[in-house]
Amino acid sequence: MKMLVVGGAGYIGSHMVKMLSRAGNDVVTIDNLSEGYRDAVKYGQFVLGDLADRAALDALFRANHFDGVMHFASFIQAGESVIDPGKYFRNNVANTQNLLDAMVEHRVHHFIFSSTAAIYGEPQYVPIDEAHPSRPINPYGRSKLMVEEMLGDYDRAHDLKSVCLRYFNAAGADPDGELGERHDPESHLIPLVLQAASGRRDSITIFGTDYDTPDGTCIRDYIHVQDLCTAHLLALEHLSKNSRSDTFNL
Ligand SMILES: NC(=O)c1ccc[n+]([C@@H]2O[C@H](COP(=O)([O-])OP(=O)(O)OC[C@H]3O[C@@H](n4cnc5c(N)ncnc54)[C@H](O)[C@@H]3O)[C@@H](O)[C@H]2O)c1
Repeated sequence: MKMLVVGGAGYIGSHMVKMLSRAGNDVVTIDNLSEGYRDAVKYGQFVLGDLADRAALDALFRANHFDGVMHFASFIQAGESVIDPGKYFRNNVANTQNLLDAMVEHRVHHFIFSSTAAIYGEPQYVPIDEAHPSRPINPYGRSKLMVEEMLGDYDRAHDLKSVCLRYFNAAGADPDGELGERHDPESHLIPLVLQAASGRRDSITIFGTDYDTPDGTCIRDYIHVQDLCTAHLLALEHLSKNSRSDTFNL
């Protein structure tokens, strides 16, 4: 298949580009490199471009007949989204709408969306399943929920079929050692722990002292980036076979 990976120069997207290419797909990455790295895109074609630029999206869709789109591009820091919500709604919602409108115009019907467990908010029960109420507690989570809701409307109006994959915390790296997690500044726990263990930072602060756990710190769910990417391949297969929109926790 010919796939467009949006945000393919980022952490998860770059692993996806590799897995898609290795599985025999023809892959084009578009990324504005606001957070990602050109040298993380080691397979397929790279296009430097911004989702805010509708004309660039139209040119891309005119030049390629894509079978589907995987959308990893967004801002991802929950804390920052509280301080600067407009930045999150503009990029994560308005720019995603640009992408969806371009897909509709160019008749591309299959979309896989990187959603997040942050759409659930405070857990009312665990483990959290897909039926858990969605009450995000920050603009980051709300921006992702808005896109999920938009996708329902685009399906009804335009037959755009999507799979929303709600990730918990991603971790790990490419087993060949070609790719890894690189956020700058690093905000994710596992890389910070590894930096501390390897002497590249003095210490790491684990927040939380009064959770109902053996040492009072928080327990988190992690999923390996390779497993995340494998789930995207399965989501693509699901769309191709069943042509039905769906939502899954990862
Ligand atoms: N990392 C996690 O633990 C985690 C957990 C839940 C959900 N997610 C979601 O997964 C996706 C990928 O996360 P990540 O950790 O790989 O993030 P990342 O920041 O490493 O990658 C995002 C990529 O999108 C690009 N981008 C952002 N805005 C863009 C725009 N307007 N136009 C073009 N490119 C743009 C960035 O340059 C970057 O390369 C995000 O949507 C995030 O919300 C991640």
